[in-house]
Amino acid sequence: MQNPLHNKSDIAVIGLAVMGQNLILNMNDHGFQVSAYNRTADKTEQFLNGPAIGTKIIGAYSLEELIGQLKQPRKVMLMVQAGQAVDELIAQLVPLLDKGDIIIDGGNAHYPDTERRTAELAEQGILFIGTGISGGEEGARHGPSIMPGGNLEAWSAVKPILQAVAAKTASGEVCCHWVGKNGAGHFVKMVHNGIEYGDMQLICEAYQFMKDGLGMSADEMQQTFAAWNKTELNSYLIEITADILAYKDSDGLPLVDKILDTAGQKGTGKWTGINALDLGIPLTLISEAVFARCVSAFKQQRETAAALFGHTAETVAGVRAEWLEALRLALLASKIISYAQGFMLIREAGEANGWELNYGNTALLWREGCIIRSAFLGNIRDAYEADPDLVFLGSDPYFKNILQTALPSWRKVAAKAIECGLPMPCMTSALTFLDGYTTARLPANLLQAQRDYFGAHTYERTDKPRGEFFHTNWTGTGGDTASTTYDV
Ligand code: ATR
Repeated sequence: MQNPLHNKSDIAVIGLAVMGQNLILNMNDHGFQVSAYNRTADKTEQFLNGPAIGTKIIGAYSLEELIGQLKQPRKVMLMVQAGQAVDELIAQLVPLLDKGDIIIDGGNAHYPDTERRTAELAEQGILFIGTGISGGEEGARHGPSIMPGGNLEAWSAVKPILQAVAAKTASGEVCCHWVGKNGAGHFVKMVHNGIEYGDMQLICEAYQFMKDGLGMSADEMQQTFAAWNKTELNSYLIEITADILAYKDSDGLPLVDKILDTAGQKGTGKWTGINALDLGIPLTLISEAVFARCVSAFKQQRETAAALFGHTAETVAGVRAEWLEALRLALLASKIISYAQGFMLIREAGEANGWELNYGNTALLWREGCIIRSAFLGNIRDAYEADPDLVFLGSDPYFKNILQTALPSWRKVAAKAIECGLPMPCMTSALTFLDGYTTARLPANLLQAQRDYFGAHTYERTDKPRGEFFHTNWTGTGGDTASTTYDV
């Protein structure tokens, strides 16, 4: 029952795991009255009698009670496990809501689910928003990056709350803007996570080059990353890498050296890679980062193979300071390629799905609050402000200049890593991508000839207009009939 002493709440949040609780407290800090509900009532009780003491937060112990506490149009935010729980809750909520009420899914939904839910709910007159939220517990409590998409009609009602709680840049810009229609918000969150995979793997490759190639201690590497954090690489992930390297176990030795080298993953990097393959976008760096985690998980097999091949990396000879600067440039240039590929994917998906995306805003959303927050994203935002139709981030003058300056060092580092047997999948594949992307004539002429030879797949000619297809009877024994199917 609604307590008559209370006004109606501005919003309801369902799901009192740590993200839900922190987001509610954040909303409360910004003056909103929030109604809180959790399937397991004990958690609601603990929240109300713990972190929520002294706030305006109200508890509810049934969905009916929760919905009865809300101002109209009602806004109900789901902060529950992604997947079936969201569909189950939506099914329970719809009969309790009126046309024009709003459901917001702030979980980590796979974007096709958000596409489906937006459409299904629109048919019933309920407005749906699927929003990516990044920044972990700390972000949820004090200002996450928020990436909302879905039914645009709902945005004006939800905007004041989400923008109030979102992260802000130093100049006061909000890291929460409308991303686009339907599944756009959750799609952009997925790409954010993919980019996070890439950023982390790039740092790990630099770490391995320093540790195994240059023989640096944890303290020396800490100092290097701390110094890099004062350059264009300034970012949360570089900052925490320095912190991690400085952290000592109880015996005074670096804790990082005692952590097992097998990486886990929850699947968002994989989704990003699969999506890129589906759309035909060369998202090589993020995909390599996903595969690097897969290789790391083969711990036992790697140990066996290491012994079988007697593989140990050779040390990198030369002046350490020079290598470190080359490595910094290689990391920076590779990062540009990763984001360039990520934005290629966002553009393609946005166009394919009619999401009407704003690329500069997307970069701004990630500028603060989230795991990939960095100074660099401010430059990406500027690049898309200057040219909203920028196809390849590396063609923006600021980024092109960095890539061109970095190229000789980047080649040197990549070649040295390969020569010394230091695995470097992301930095080398990023360089290979740039070399391919900036090569006017690739060997695909031969590839097309091969396809035509064995499968009559036809080819276009350099001396004829595009769109005219030719088939050659290469052996004299094959037919002259071209294949009608185009198998990529
Ligand atoms: P975490 O991993 O941090 O616990 P999560 O698994 O993403 O977070 O989300 C857990 C939240 O989803 C909990 O609030 C959980 O409710 P319970 O405390 O009752 O378990 C909620 N949740 C999961 N499945 C649900 C469902 N089918 N209906 C309602 N809430 C559900």
